[in-house]
Amino acid sequence: MEKDRTGMRVGLTQYGDAGFSLFLRKAFIKAMGYSDSALDRPIVGIVNTYSGYNACHRNVPDLIDAIKRGVMLSGGLPVDFPVLSMHESFSAPTSMFLRNLMSMDTEEMIRAQPMQSVVLIGGCDKTVPALLMGAASVNIPAILTVTGPMSTGSHRGERLGACTDCRRLWGKHRAGEIDAAEIEEINGKLAPTAGTCMVMGTASTMALVSEALGVMLPGGAAIPAVHADRLRHAEATGVEAVALAKSGRVLADILTPAAFGNALRVLHAIGGSTNGLVHLAAVAGRLGIRIDYDAFDRIGQETPVLVDLKPSGQHYMEDLHKAGGLMPILREIRHLLDEDCITITGKRLGEIIDAADIWEQDVVRPFSNPIYPRGGMRVLRGNLAPDGAIIKQSAASPALMKHTGRAVVFTSLADMDRRIDSEELDVKADDILVLQNAGPKGGPGMPEAGYIPIPAKLARQGVSDMVRISDARMSGTAYGTIVLHASPEAAIGGPIGLVRDGDIISLDVENGTLTLDVEDAELERRRAAWSPPAHEGAERGYLKLYLERVEQADRGCDFDFLVAPETSGVTPQK
Ligand code: FES
Repeated sequence: MEKDRTGMRVGLTQYGDAGFSLFLRKAFIKAMGYSDSALDRPIVGIVNTYSGYNACHRNVPDLIDAIKRGVMLSGGLPVDFPVLSMHESFSAPTSMFLRNLMSMDTEEMIRAQPMQSVVLIGGCDKTVPALLMGAASVNIPAILTVTGPMSTGSHRGERLGACTDCRRLWGKHRAGEIDAAEIEEINGKLAPTAGTCMVMGTASTMALVSEALGVMLPGGAAIPAVHADRLRHAEATGVEAVALAKSGRVLADILTPAAFGNALRVLHAIGGSTNGLVHLAAVAGRLGIRIDYDAFDRIGQETPVLVDLKPSGQHYMEDLHKAGGLMPILREIRHLLDEDCITITGKRLGEIIDAADIWEQDVVRPFSNPIYPRGGMRVLRGNLAPDGAIIKQSAASPALMKHTGRAVVFTSLADMDRRIDSEELDVKADDILVLQNAGPKGGPGMPEAGYIPIPAKLARQGVSDMVRISDARMSGTAYGTIVLHASPEAAIGGPIGLVRDGDIISLDVENGTLTLDVEDAELERRRAAWSPPAHEGAERGYLKLYLERVEQADRGCDFDFLVAPETSGVTPQK
């Protein structure tokens, strides 16, 4: 950042004549109709993530209008510019595959264009981490806002929300309890407004942990997309962006190891998406901060799940907004937080908690009466996942938390698609389903395929959950006894790729273990016969770059050349 320069003088194109560079730039920007007076003001860039494919960002044009109003009310000049946008359902092979590309786009467009601060408009799952990763790498004064959650739908008197209810009702359809006509009718009711999935999925998780990190104005995470408060929050964000431009407070001042420690506490307390851990590791990595998974696991033992939202509980994000959003959560766990962290406003986190109105409600439980006594996630270790695996214990079946069973193995997504519903599949309710080659490189893009469907013949018998293990991710909206992110992944020779049908696997969530009961010598024999999976099209383009440079889940699935070269801190520590 060129901190001592303002307006159009920042980041001039190099011709060897700075005066001519400025002259040329002003000639072109004047074609937009700006006056000299406007161009002399602090410029606030606004990252426009609208896309006709991205329903979760349908309200971005309205938010940009409101942010611009706030910037101009404060004497700044707002200039919006596009970056890549993506929606979970329109990002083949996966949105995770594209997240790093969006972060690079964000980083380079912020760097390339003149602005003294930038407003990031995130929303759908991967957009918030991508924007924060890119802006963190530039280390510019930046403030985040989000599109906000959708409002709930309704079907025959039952309240519905994407996409926990998408999965639950599709499961009933697979089991024959809902016919084709009714599931089609339901399809039109699951996503009834603009905005992001309204359960505690990845979008809600990233919004809440970002507010906890201090990069969003207080109260912004849970406001519904269609609520007038969402526009008022956007306007206030524009006002704050001008103050930020003047203060020169950059993201590294906010995103400290202690701030990430707070965010990881909040991740446990909200029963957040397992993806939140991967994304926080990626954002932290851009600033040289490493997440200690054993410490994350340890703080989970003392941080209960307090938020009663689907899929771990019963409410939706609009209910959390009415309950006060993030603030009652912070108030309940404030004894576990570092209250001295500085937020985007320049205020300490403790001051913000003190200033918040708190009232009686039933969405955020008191610390003494949680909906789950420990944190949402548990880190598992053992010979099946030497570098760790994750289970969302708050959304798992208590009866399966300690379970030993016979492996039923699918070697790829295509193999699973072909055989999962076959009547010939040799599978019983107490078996353990294993999916291989669905990790960062194997997917590619670590698809949210960890929510392996219950085989149709078991679903019809009423089986609703089984232990499922993969190197894939899972949507935050999903639930079940599902072990994810087994690391190292199968596609780089990890032990999960060496499992064979009939092997015995033991899961013990209480003790944090995941064990494959196969002799080492036999595993070595299998390893000697192993070869990595091939990917069509891998010889060129972004897929080639991705496969060569993507890291494992514990490093946030970032590209190795984007992570900060030096480690500056480790978190959580408290
Ligand atoms: Fe965009 Fe769920 S699909 S948040």
